[in-house]
Amino acid sequence: MTTPPSKLPVSMTVNGRPVTGYVEPRTLLAHFIREQAGLTGTHVGCDSSSCGCCVVLMDGAPVKSCTVFAPMAEGHSIQTVEGLAQGGQLHPIQQAFSDQHGLQCGYCTPGMMMTSLALLSRNPDPSEHEIREGLSGNLCRCTGYNNIVKAVQQAAGAMAASASTAADD
Ligand code: FES
Ligand code: FES
Repeated sequence: MTTPPSKLPVSMTVNGRPVTGYVEPRTLLAHFIREQAGLTGTHVGCDSSSCGCCVVLMDGAPVKSCTVFAPMAEGHSIQTVEGLAQGGQLHPIQQAFSDQHGLQCGYCTPGMMMTSLALLSRNPDPSEHEIREGLSGNLCRCTGYNNIVKAVQQAAGAMAASASTAADD
């Protein structure tokens, strides 16, 4: 009987950049992102799938990265909050959270924004109810949810306007 290796090689793409590391099989994707990719915008709060502050996109779908083992992300494409801004320009979701005061301490905000991005990707014009339902897996302990909903509504409008401009070009 062979002894299993204590560490596994794991490779994935994070925000378009290849990242490889050696990890224990039980290493969580959230910890891989923070410690191996060096991207600390992905926060860990409850560590047990309750708060949503660790949400990242895996192949475009939102996942709570505290519930995914890093080896399960082998070969996949991960997007974190650091991948939102492009060319020094805030993403419309980031701009909207700023404009609408959708954060106070900011601990939940990366997860809120990544979940919002996934929501707007599948439903570009959500109702208030759909926004609240879409964010129901993300907890905020200080802002309250009204400004967060307003931020998602602003972002939806901005993203629709920029999609329409792009279509006209
Ligand atoms: S840290 Fe992942 S859901 Fe709370
Ligand atoms: S802004 Fe503090 S937990 Fe949401």
